[in-house]
Amino acid sequence: MEKDCTVWDGDIAKVLITEKELDETVTRLSHEIARDYADKNLLLLCILKGSIVFTGDLMKKLTVPCEIDCMKVSSYGAGTVSGGRINILLDLHRKDLSEKDILIVEDIIDSGRTLSYLVSYLTLNGARSVKTVALLDKPSRREVDYTPDYVGLEIPDEFVVGYGLDYAEKYRTLPYVGVLKPEVYSQ
Ligand code: IMP
Ligand code: MG
Repeated sequence: MEKDCTVWDGDIAKVLITEKELDETVTRLSHEIARDYADKNLLLLCILKGSIVFTGDLMKKLTVPCEIDCMKVSSYGAGTVSGGRINILLDLHRKDLSEKDILIVEDIIDSGRTLSYLVSYLTLNGARSVKTVALLDKPSRREVDYTPDYVGLEIPDEFVVGYGLDYAEKYRTLPYVGVLKPEVYSQ
């Protein structure tokens, strides 16, 4: 049965990606990743908190063995504009990454700063390989020349919430991805 989302309806301008589309997209990505990582030592690295839902759904669908771990970074301030500086709030405390093929799991790529920074950081920390999957991509917003290895869906330059993505820590529990009404964040 579908979740009743009426309590959030007033804040959402439109549903951009339905639950069904999200499910199909994650299934497709899981097939691509399983094919490429069949003979590797996959470590799925969930970037907290936005990627929690995506990582959970992706790992359930993966047909190759993998470990999971988390890092927490922040690039956004309280609002809807990227702060431009990446802070590591929770690091990956592992001694030896030399036999790990890390796949960074990101909810959305915007300026590109977070993913390009994390790829360099983990490579410098000795990972055997570092690749990235972004469920959503806003290519028109890129400020750093970086393209994820796997992309779910390209979306226009609109602030979206749901399926793990938040505005001021709200809306992460929505089962779809929706566009937030601008008046919600411009108040
Ligand atoms: P980047 O470093 O600019 O690529 O930013 C990536 C991060 O910004 C993502 O992990 C999200 O946390 C956040 N972000 C970017 N766009 C949105 C959005 O539309 N809604 C919610 N969070 C977003
Ligand atoms: Mg994020």
